[in-house]
Amino acid sequence: MDFLKQLALPQSAAQIEVLHFVMNFVQILFLPFVSYLFGALTLSLYYGRKGRKRNDINALHFAKDVIDHVLPNKSILFLFGVVPYITLVFAYAQLLQGSESISVSILTWGAVFFMAGSAFASSYNSAFKLSSVLETIKQGNEEISVFRTELSEQKRTSGKYSLLFLFVGIFFLFAGTTLASEPTQWSSVTTVVELIFSAGVIVKFLQFVALSLTIATVGTLFFTFSWEGGKKNIAAEYAAFVKSATLPTALISILIQPLFVVLSVIVAPVAGLSGAVFVASVVGIFFLFLTSHYVYAMMKSFESKFAALAFYVLIISIVSVVIADTNSFAGATKKHSSFLAYQYDKHHEELLAAMGISLKVISGEEIFSAKCSACHEFGIKKVGPAYKDVLPKYENDRAKLLSFVLNPQKMDPAFPPMPNQGLKPAEADSIAAYIMRMYKAPK
Ligand code: HEC
Repeated sequence: MDFLKQLALPQSAAQIEVLHFVMNFVQILFLPFVSYLFGALTLSLYYGRKGRKRNDINALHFAKDVIDHVLPNKSILFLFGVVPYITLVFAYAQLLQGSESISVSILTWGAVFFMAGSAFASSYNSAFKLSSVLETIKQGNEEISVFRTELSEQKRTSGKYSLLFLFVGIFFLFAGTTLASEPTQWSSVTTVVELIFSAGVIVKFLQFVALSLTIATVGTLFFTFSWEGGKKNIAAEYAAFVKSATLPTALISILIQPLFVVLSVIVAPVAGLSGAVFVASVVGIFFLFLTSHYVYAMMKSFESKFAALAFYVLIISIVSVVIADTNSFAGATKKHSSFLAYQYDKHHEELLAAMGISLKVISGEEIFSAKCSACHEFGIKKVGPAYKDVLPKYENDRAKLLSFVLNPQKMDPAFPPMPNQGLKPAEADSIAAYIMRMYKAPK
């Protein structure tokens, strides 16, 4: 997947902001849809099998309906599934360029599996549509009954493969994005196998499975009883079947989710945690509880408006969790982002210089006395630490020192945070060279 690395272009700080925004937006489309699809497939396969075994018309009808709601046409799968996934791969390729992380390769493979899963899902759905057309033709025709058997075979295999490939595609998505949020692991994780057993990935995937059952059940209630006034002419017996097949699963799958939200905050990389992440997670849990409240209300006394409320509130909850997640990624990769922005600015300045537009660069010594000496001394601690105590760790990593000077991060709890000095990359370059040279020089 090296071609993606070559496609990645240097990004300015502003472009990185835009990429984070795009990632947020794309996941807000992707996650609700894909979790609904995954949950609907699971329910459809389960009830389809049950229906065939017991010759239960309601179960078979239900198996067709759940999948039909989420895939009313083929372009939905493309617009809300395939396109967002590919966009995410490109966004990650841009943001992780120059790092050793294998995230982007994992995500690229994930996209391939995901596309295969989508194709099978589409074939599963069209087999259902065709067989319900066949049902309107009267029995007895030899050819039609052969065709019918073939169709039900196609349904079974495409359904199974769809679930399997989507499973792998989505698992790889979580593996790739979780690794992307843990810069400390970038160089040590070299195969996807190591991620299969990582707590972060497992928690996220289980959370996804629980969520997918919630949204597929709540979504089915919504599309059966509420959307556009509810389905016309549903038999009372089928309505009762839908309720009993969805409500208990909805309630249980909602109630275990706050646990996963909390767990995922616990296993998230500390660098990514911020006020925004907590607020978004708390908002997410609050709306989940509200969803469970409406589901419970439907169990007590069914009203179709509760189905709509539960569905909308659940979508808000998912959006909050997505925002918490992307914020945590942006926080965790701040250092890498500021390094990329630094490279971009440097590249830009070199370009200007090559065109003969010179930028006056002040010497390191001048910058030191103008901008650093108020708080720093080489040998003694002032407002900030003595350089001789903090610089040795940058001896082999000048890039890290540069990104600190350009964008100071909280380092040592014994000191207040260092304010950003607003240096240009070229200035940061010369001050870094100056202090690295001077702190060793005998006074
Ligand atoms: C207003 C005070 C102030 C100014 C001005 C200031 N610093 Fe700092 N600096 C600090 C403080 C406080 C810390 C400790 C931050 C921490 O540990 O979170 C620090 C820490 C550092 C560190 C150590 C980072 C580490 O890895 O622990 C370096 C290097 C540094 N500053 C370089 C500079 C340079 C170069 C300048 C001038 C361009 C500068 N500082 C200007 C207050 C200042």
